[in-house]
Amino acid sequence: MTAQALPNDLEPFWMPFTANRHFKKAPRLLAEAKDMHYSTPEGRKILDATAGLWCVNAGHGREKIVKAVQAQVAKLDFAPSFNVGHPIAFELAARLTSMVPGYSQVFYTNSGSESVDTALKIALAYQRAIGQGTRTRLIGRERGYHGVGFGGMSVGGMVANRKIWGPSMLNGVDHIRHTHDPEKNAFSKGQPEWGAHLADDLERLVALHDASTIAAVIVEPVAGSTGVLVPPKGYLQRLRQICDKHGILLIFDEVITGFGRLGASFATEYFGVKPDLFTTAKGISNATIPMGAVFCRKGIYDAFMNGPEGMIEVFHGYTYSAHPVAEEGLFERAAELSPYWQEAVHSMKGLPNVIDIRNLGLTAGIELSPRPNAPPTSRGMDAHLKAFEKGVMVRFSGETICMSPPLIISKGQIDQIVDTVTDVIKTIH
Ligand SMILES: Cc1ncc(COP(=O)(O)O)c(C=O)c1O
Repeated sequence: MTAQALPNDLEPFWMPFTANRHFKKAPRLLAEAKDMHYSTPEGRKILDATAGLWCVNAGHGREKIVKAVQAQVAKLDFAPSFNVGHPIAFELAARLTSMVPGYSQVFYTNSGSESVDTALKIALAYQRAIGQGTRTRLIGRERGYHGVGFGGMSVGGMVANRKIWGPSMLNGVDHIRHTHDPEKNAFSKGQPEWGAHLADDLERLVALHDASTIAAVIVEPVAGSTGVLVPPKGYLQRLRQICDKHGILLIFDEVITGFGRLGASFATEYFGVKPDLFTTAKGISNATIPMGAVFCRKGIYDAFMNGPEGMIEVFHGYTYSAHPVAEEGLFERAAELSPYWQEAVHSMKGLPNVIDIRNLGLTAGIELSPRPNAPPTSRGMDAHLKAFEKGVMVRFSGETICMSPPLIISKGQIDQIVDTVTDVIKTIH
């Protein structure tokens, strides 16, 4: 007898990053989406304050994107990129690299996690290709999130994502300290003034391990999943200088910050700091198709192009690639809205249990104090649940309410989000 899936049986789907039993008792299902809203199966509208998972930057069901994806699937559903190619992948690579001066190649992936692992592998292979094969150590940062592959998990610094897999993670990885100190930078609007010197923590690791063992440092320019940690002014510039001094590659993980989130194409443009490699995913395809790309600065690719011409240069790649579409004018829109967004989210200062508010571009984190003797997501989860009941979707990371709406959001919708979250926070004890 063949087993049949029951339409209302929620058990077979082991949900990722979710409290499965809790969710399945009172599911929050999303059936449709258009522009700024999701709809539940019962037809209730939910304002999307998170752009899905920081990824639907151009808003939902964008007609141009839907049509392009439909047409492309009908025209060419799949073609491999191993030793053959299809024109659109080359066309897109040319368009992507033309968005950021100084970067000449992209390596395609299907997710942020794969972009991170790809960037780490390219960094290691590059050091070897230029005669620096002793540089095998990778450095991440505390509170970093770089996806869930073994590479990304190892350089990541969120304890819940690491502790179970302990010794199975990559060898030789170390971490610099994170940039958040609420005593010094709580309630900063945009970039905190204090903390550029925290980049010097890399010097501590150089002194401990020696630069000749270190291949690369990876950081999120703005740490997203740990609750929106904005880099102090001058921090990223200083990190770049220290990497240059020691021949260490700098990798930005731009899976969240890429494609307009900060009101610029990428964080590298926003901060004026050029990493050697930067990862992207999410907004690259507006999340319609799983896709990512690693951008490589001029010279990285060339270092691999020295052996016999008929040889595969780097034995790395994924079966799938995709057909994304870019929307115009949205980055500028995000930049224009950022000051309004900043003032709106900071209006929640002074509400009960709010111990910090952080923002940059169209991102914000509102941190609540933890409940005594409760799990460290207790108030954050309550906020997510109550906001959903009131028709607004926010995320939580620990006790931080995280928001990153689609870049098409209107001022009225920003007000709706802030009013709802304000009401919600008032009811959370
Ligand atoms: C900075 C960063 N890197 C990597 C990832 C992993 O991306 P994915 O879930 O597509 O594998 C994420 C996901 O949120 C992210 O925020």
